[in-house]
Amino acid sequence: MKIIKSNRSQFKDHQITDEDIFNNKRDFLKKMGFVGAGSLITSPSHAGLFDWLKSDDTPPKKDPEPPKPLNFKALDKSGFELTPEQKVTHYNNFYEFGTSKQDPSEHAHNLTTNPWELTISGLVEQKITLNYEDLFKRFALEERVYRLRCVEAWSMVIPWVGFSLADLLKQAGVSSGAKYVSFKTLHRPSEMRGQSSRLIGGSIPYPYTEGLRIDEAMNPLAFLAVGLYGKSLPNQNGAPIRLVVPWKYGFKSIKSITEIKLSKIMPKTTWNLSAPNEYGFYANVNPDVDHPRWSQASERLITSGGLFDQQRIKTLPFNGYAEQVAHLYKDMDLRRHF
Ligand code: MTE
Repeated sequence: MKIIKSNRSQFKDHQITDEDIFNNKRDFLKKMGFVGAGSLITSPSHAGLFDWLKSDDTPPKKDPEPPKPLNFKALDKSGFELTPEQKVTHYNNFYEFGTSKQDPSEHAHNLTTNPWELTISGLVEQKITLNYEDLFKRFALEERVYRLRCVEAWSMVIPWVGFSLADLLKQAGVSSGAKYVSFKTLHRPSEMRGQSSRLIGGSIPYPYTEGLRIDEAMNPLAFLAVGLYGKSLPNQNGAPIRLVVPWKYGFKSIKSITEIKLSKIMPKTTWNLSAPNEYGFYANVNPDVDHPRWSQASERLITSGGLFDQQRIKTLPFNGYAEQVAHLYKDMDLRRHF
């Protein structure tokens, strides 16, 4: 598929690092106060400090919804150099479970994903409610390999399984006045420990919300993932359904969605509310516009390499998807609308 074949170039297998070595080095550096410069955290109360202080010995609950194999139109992935599954599922940002990269895989077990309800409402012809089974059955599932570029300047190459956001929106019917789409993550503090504690979940407002312009949402690249590596999503990656917008910084790719709403006005979004000078609404990957605290010109590609053996690659405009999406922004000053 064209969408997929365009992004295979610079990913090599030889950088694979052993996960434990990687994590141990990171923990050590974190305790020494060196990790966190690239963190999304906005206040000086860095995740690293809290990690050092907190000692949560609660044993994780058994995963209530173990990953299941999915029925989908598979891709021939032999040409892709993918980020190993272990990294994709153990190096995460999901502040609802904690601000360190290991917190989501350690604590997201507590999230109940079945039953689930996702509503599509607002300026639509017909409100839709999808239950857990619908997420896997209502649309033909396909596999797509996309790059994920985090605003923190690391990236991965991930084989997602899901369906295009446009398919869902077309089914609801987009009303003529609809200009934006907003997304909301589940709000369930009893299972999402970060939602009730700023010490754990950082200083962002919950529930996590995101948004797209309607033409962005209808672009064929915008994807709703229900799986990765051929199985349903692990909780830490946003089970049971999450957005993937590969030309934007990863924080736009909101996880564990319960609400999609079409509106006339631009929705408020979590990171933009938290630090408007650092995180814009558009958040298109752009090597020419630095984050106020770090450069966006290059990124650490997470394949198999470790912290000291990393592959630094140049960041591409729109994360390498310019051909498919640059036209959406042709009359915009991308320095102002960052
Ligand atoms: N969605 C929610 N609800 N909460 C989050 O903290 N983090 C975002 C995004 N979606 C986040 C979220 C960020 S910053 C990134 S980089 C990606 O999820 C990371 O996705 P991954 O953990 O599957 O790699």
